Amino acid sequence: MWLGRKDAQVTREQVLEALRDVQDPELHRSIVDLDMVRDVRVRDGHVHVDALLTIQGCPLRQVIVESIRERVARIPGVRSVDVSLGVMSPEERQALIARLRGAEETSPFLTPSSRVRVLAVGSGKGGVGKSTVTANLAVALAQEGRRVGVLDADVYGFSIPRLLGLEGRPTVIDQMIVPLERWGVRAVSMGMLVDRDEAVIWRGPMLHKALLTFITEVHWGELDLLLLDLPPGTGDVAITVAQQLPRAEVLVVTTPQQAAAEVAARAARMAHKVNLRVAGVVENMSYLDGPTPVAVFGEGGGESLAQRLGVPLVARIPLDPRICEAGDAGEPVVVRHPDSAGARAFREAARHLLAARVT
Ligand SMILES: Nc1ncnc2c1ncn2[C@@H]1O[C@H](COP(=O)(O)OP(=O)(O)OP(=O)(O)O)[C@@H](O)[C@H]1O
Ligand SMILES: [Mg+2]
Repeated sequence: MWLGRKDAQVTREQVLEALRDVQDPELHRSIVDLDMVRDVRVRDGHVHVDALLTIQGCPLRQVIVESIRERVARIPGVRSVDVSLGVMSPEERQALIARLRGAEETSPFLTPSSRVRVLAVGSGKGGVGKSTVTANLAVALAQEGRRVGVLDADVYGFSIPRLLGLEGRPTVIDQMIVPLERWGVRAVSMGMLVDRDEAVIWRGPMLHKALLTFITEVHWGELDLLLLDLPPGTGDVAITVAQQLPRAEVLVVTTPQQAAAEVAARAARMAHKVNLRVAGVVENMSYLDGPTPVAVFGEGGGESLAQRLGVPLVARIPLDPRICEAGDAGEPVVVRHPDSAGARAFREAARHLLAARVT
């Protein structure tokens, strides 16, 4: 009997077309483009997809399976979806890396035509909140819809994994490091590569090498911004950054205290010396939030520093125990307490920086 409409016949091409929408969760590219789809078979609306993982024990295998299932099931006429997973051979993996590298011409930041905006967060002085600012700013920028990477350039004193709540090790595909991702931010840190309490002794050249690895051997994918969390002090790291990423800008973090602002001014001069532009000043621990704001660490350091450097004061972040507690919990305050004055100030800083893009 003719039912008025014949069931749509699902074709292999249709399935392949649909699979283009499925991205590898780590590499941020379509699994079809990555040659991760080995075979597709269709019979009477029953679909079988044979996919290849880049490495054995890929932590996100279930995510890939689910995304394939979900996308294929949306094709009209599909009655069942079955996914089996294999692993790429070393040759296939090499081809994949060559393709990823080729598409990016080595590292996305190293080409003169790079559109990635690199912001190095530094201060000179320790403990003023560089890492806290980096983590929150990164998440705030991601919340504004930007693709954001964080490179933890504090090789000895890394704190980005804790601040962003990143656990585990990044996937390494034949020496190519795939960043871990959380809160919409991709991050790489030495803390992901060494054991927590392992004592690592880094000499200058090794430090340089470690940073170079993070810049050149990490598959960042496409980014709009890369934030670097600089270690305290100036010196070595700033020079490496300037040499490798000559178009990087520096965001100077200070507290309102005059003494801190003076050290920060020296850091800014150092940046100038190595030809890095200063994008702005963030004053952190500015005041204790409340009905009557209290200036705990003095006043005016950020403002006067910004004036001296001839750059904008992009935000004044209050001193708030919730900022500290959120950092310890691995859930930045912009996520944990989005309505707090601190979170608002971080979002304001993000918007300010986006509006002030200078090329
Ligand atoms: N606005 C703030 N309110 C409350 N606590 C804060 C604030 N900013 C930073 N902190 C806390 O101050 C401490 C130092 O912050 P952070 O580690 O970000 O500084 P840093 O400049 O990166 O330090 P280092 O120089 O050691 O790298 C942390 O415990 C952090 O949680
Ligand atoms: Mg730090």
